[in-house]
Amino acid sequence: MTCRICEAPTESVLDLGACPPANWLKRTVDEEQETFPLELEWCRRCTNLQLTYTVAAERLYRHYLYSTPRSPSLGRHYRELVDYLAATGVIRPDAFVVEMGSNTGGFLAKLAPHVGRVLGVDPAQEIAAEANASGVPTIPEFFTVDVARAIIDEAGRADLVVARHCLAHNASPHPMLDAALAALTEDGHLVIENAYALDTIARGEFDQIYHEHMFYFCVGSMRTLLDRHGLGLVDVRHSAIHGGSIVFVAARAGKAKPSDAVENALRAESTGITHDSLYAFADRARATRDALRSLVLELVEAGRSIMAYGATAKGTTLLNFTGLTANEIPYCLDGTEAKQGRFLPMSNVQVVPEHFGITKPPDEFLLTAWNYEAEIVEKVRRAGNARSRFIVPIPEVRVR
Ligand code: TYD
Repeated sequence: MTCRICEAPTESVLDLGACPPANWLKRTVDEEQETFPLELEWCRRCTNLQLTYTVAAERLYRHYLYSTPRSPSLGRHYRELVDYLAATGVIRPDAFVVEMGSNTGGFLAKLAPHVGRVLGVDPAQEIAAEANASGVPTIPEFFTVDVARAIIDEAGRADLVVARHCLAHNASPHPMLDAALAALTEDGHLVIENAYALDTIARGEFDQIYHEHMFYFCVGSMRTLLDRHGLGLVDVRHSAIHGGSIVFVAARAGKAKPSDAVENALRAESTGITHDSLYAFADRARATRDALRSLVLELVEAGRSIMAYGATAKGTTLLNFTGLTANEIPYCLDGTEAKQGRFLPMSNVQVVPEHFGITKPPDEFLLTAWNYEAEIVEKVRRAGNARSRFIVPIPEVRVR
């Protein structure tokens, strides 16, 4: 195939087989399940990592069930990001900030006291309605050039456009960047946050690969992408959230002088994102799959009960690649009401409320939300369940 950033030919890295989109939870076990190829490929020229096959965004997001969990670590992350944006002068008290893919408005709500005005744009109708109801003004649309123009007409140009965990979620990031540029003032900034490919690769996080994640950005590929739109990198900021994320700060090319952090990241990527490291990553994914499958089958054989914890998109990739199903893991705990009562795609594991893990504690939890390990373990122990063990699948299979 070809790179959707720079159009050079791509090479396959890891084929996870035909899978249903990870957030298409089923209402009944028998519901028909459409599957699509799930394969990671990379571009040697600009070091972009992307999915070979992309499902249309219109199908993936209109009735999206993903609603950002309320979690202490996420709250902390938002605060640190707001502090960073204020300290670097990216936001000022009179700034107008537009966020695309703003979900329930959690980040904008934290930002609002520090800026003049905030506006969210999110295509998931139910979720945008929830944001509006909570006081974060949100337009229920995809962020396009037309929507950007309508915003300018009504509210003026934005000093900052934010795209957190959404730029990688479309077959082409180009229209979103066109829309961001259309909305921004001459001196405005664009802040993009995503899972960081260097961490995904270095930590063997193959379960970050699912249909919604159509790109796995690194500083090298982001620089190429921005350059095509007359934008340049000003700074990058790494954080541990979601298994390793990166914030890219960009401005119009003539006004963007890259910081040392940008240069340092590019140096790290020159040895961390290479043909050899990517093939080692694929081998490690297969090793994790085999180790997890053997462990779970042994435990089931020994009569131990297992529940998954966190109906994450990652969990769906993990279970389906590992070939584990409701036969071994009948239930998955999750606090998201919209997911409860539904079944994880393909594995048919039923999602149940978290209190199940207290009233009917299993022998083992498979931590499919391993990115929230510390707070989930603490929550379970605090609620009085001292006996269930946790199987943490990533970066390598471990039991605690
Ligand atoms: P997330 O890690 O954002 O996953 P992904 O991007 O892979 O879908 O989702 C975390 C899921 O875990 C979400 O469905 C909410 C759930 N969750 C709980 O049920 N309880 C908790 O205490 C936490 C932190 C998360």
